[in-house]
Amino acid sequence: MNIITCIAPVNIAVIKYWGKRDEKLILPLNDSVSATLSIKEMHAKTTVMASPNFKEDKIWLNGKEETFQNQRLQSCLQEIRRRAKQKADNKGDSISNWSIHVCSENNFPTAAGLASSAAGYACLVFALAQLYDVSGDISGIARQGSGSACRSLYGGFVRWHQGSALDGSDSIATQVAPESHWPEMRILVLVVSDKRKKVSSSAGMQNSVNTSELLKYRVSHCVPQRTEAIVKAIINKDFDTFADITMKDSNQFHAVCLDTFPPNVYMNDTSHAIVNLIHSYNTASEKNKVTYTFDAGPNACLYLLQSEVPKLLAVLNHIFPAGNESVEYLQGIPVEKQAVSQEFIAAIGMQPQEPGLLKYMIHTEVGVGPQVLNEPRHHLLTDAGFPKASV
Ligand code: DP6
Repeated sequence: MNIITCIAPVNIAVIKYWGKRDEKLILPLNDSVSATLSIKEMHAKTTVMASPNFKEDKIWLNGKEETFQNQRLQSCLQEIRRRAKQKADNKGDSISNWSIHVCSENNFPTAAGLASSAAGYACLVFALAQLYDVSGDISGIARQGSGSACRSLYGGFVRWHQGSALDGSDSIATQVAPESHWPEMRILVLVVSDKRKKVSSSAGMQNSVNTSELLKYRVSHCVPQRTEAIVKAIINKDFDTFADITMKDSNQFHAVCLDTFPPNVYMNDTSHAIVNLIHSYNTASEKNKVTYTFDAGPNACLYLLQSEVPKLLAVLNHIFPAGNESVEYLQGIPVEKQAVSQEFIAAIGMQPQEPGLLKYMIHTEVGVGPQVLNEPRHHLLTDAGFPKASV
């Protein structure tokens, strides 16, 4: 088969990766830990095809042709071809001299700024590995596309080990626990309205490495202990500890962004209102029932157990009323409506906000790693190797 189509998941870190010690190999300054989100709700889909008829490597992303002359794409492709050539049976070698065409799209709006590069690079590298028949760990290859992409190659809860080798060979992702381990875990992504253009993660973290003293402290004094503690909490299904560490790490990551000079402000007023709500909710519940984390943008990602979802949603609907009737406010896994008591709302002590601060919410769960789609109808490229949509 010279054509392969795969889908790959998004992952959301609970211990954040922020800062590189090697820009080209994409080697991080600290370990990070994430959960892989179900591909049913959110995924990248990629078709890769090799043919002796192709004149040059080509790539289409979300319907638009982009250049292949991009360092990160080149690193991934070269590394996969190198690994293919190493193999004794060398099946990959026969096609590794051919050019390739790649077509990739996300099933969730890229405008939402939701870890799309992680799913995208994980999907590309996974699909290329199938095409060139490369086996073994490929997270170290996806890492060279986008650091966080290495974690999307595994399902469940995943740890990216910073490693110490100069060539990056030990900077790979491993699974902490499979998706079946904590089946009650749910994720609610709150998509916040925000029109402003943000500083990319890559540029932002480079600035932090160059200017933030707090980043040095975080890397040496906080992340190592937190990583061990959260891995233990995941293994023991200890939600209280998991929640505590997740919130603290998100807050510290954004504190590092503010300590960067000039500062990177990723969270907005709505993000901070969500943080306040979750703390009030946990206080009113007399226990950590929900935890939040924010990537390099204003959207919140909440982790909570299934039993808490209907109540939290009732509270969210009350405090953050929907604004746009034409957009489905709750997307993903359906939830039975539940009323919440006036006492609980009063205990939270927060006034309803103006409608429309949240665009919509995606309710999802922890899921598997990348998958191959075997049926030809899934291919995004025609037999001639061009995007189906444009035919
Ligand atoms: C805040 O993986 O997008 O989401 O390696 O430069 O491509 P590059 O950066 P990227 O950074 C992700 C940063 C983060 C935290 C995380 O996912 O761990």
